[in-house]
Amino acid sequence: MSETGISVKNLNVSIDNREILKNISTEIPKNQITVIIGPSGCGKSTLLRSINRMTDLVENVKTEGEILINGNNVLDPATNLSDLRKNVGMIAQAPNPLPMSIYDNVVYGPKIHGMRDPAILDEKVELSLKRVGLWDEVHDRLKDPASALSLGQQQRLCLARALAVGPKILLCDETTSALDPLSAKHIEDELISLRNDYTIVFVTHILRQAKRLADYAVFLYLGEVVECGPAHEVFTSPKDPRTKAYLEGVFG
Ligand SMILES: Nc1ncnc2c1ncn2[C@@H]1O[C@H](COP(=O)(O)OP(=O)(O)OP(=O)(O)O)[C@@H](O)[C@H]1O
Ligand SMILES: [Mg+2]
Repeated sequence: MSETGISVKNLNVSIDNREILKNISTEIPKNQITVIIGPSGCGKSTLLRSINRMTDLVENVKTEGEILINGNNVLDPATNLSDLRKNVGMIAQAPNPLPMSIYDNVVYGPKIHGMRDPAILDEKVELSLKRVGLWDEVHDRLKDPASALSLGQQQRLCLARALAVGPKILLCDETTSALDPLSAKHIEDELISLRNDYTIVFVTHILRQAKRLADYAVFLYLGEVVECGPAHEVFTSPKDPRTKAYLEGVFG
């Protein structure tokens, strides 16, 4: 499905004149899971939120550099944000279903983008819920409020909602951290099953999770990319002493 990687070039982000991301350059390979790791406050969420321009919402933010998706710099002021966010879905830290039914949560995005045909919407709901392993659990209560689902089910619903608009890229910011271990495992398994079709960027500070998920790893420290590369290389033979120290639990 997706042919879309992300190329970050000389990205600088400052907030209130404080440098948050410092000259970041990294390639995020298409159709793989890239995990961004690093201690709290190092800029993981800021990097993720720059990719779909959510950082625009921050007051006194200044962004320089390039984030290329399909050769287009998404930081260009002329970028159509609606198109960008259709292509780049985001799943938040805690499940945030909309205050409406399970069905309406899934069709919310497609409807905004003009999809109206009830049969096509029905099909969208079934496919999206099947894709996240939720269909069997909810197909007989699609009109129930989403809030009636367990937290883990709600997070899979949010994943289905993101998939329903047909993104090529999925941004996940500690997407399992509010969940019990079994539900977290469920989401991880879904992401692993999606990785051939989507470019997934997953932020976590849980090393074991990073090792389970990552094809490619980016280690951020104090707003800089210290090291990035194929996950097995970064995790088994880190080149930078700071990466080694982080992996050994010396800081973070
Ligand atoms: N809206 C904001 N206003 C001011 N400062 C911010 C804002 N968002 C982030 N920052 C600052 O930017 C730095 C990086 O924050 P960010 O949330 O990107 O870190 P993180 O690596 O995701 O941390 P965590 O693991 O705790 O989620 C922090 O010093 C933070 O205080
Ligand atoms: Mg964060």
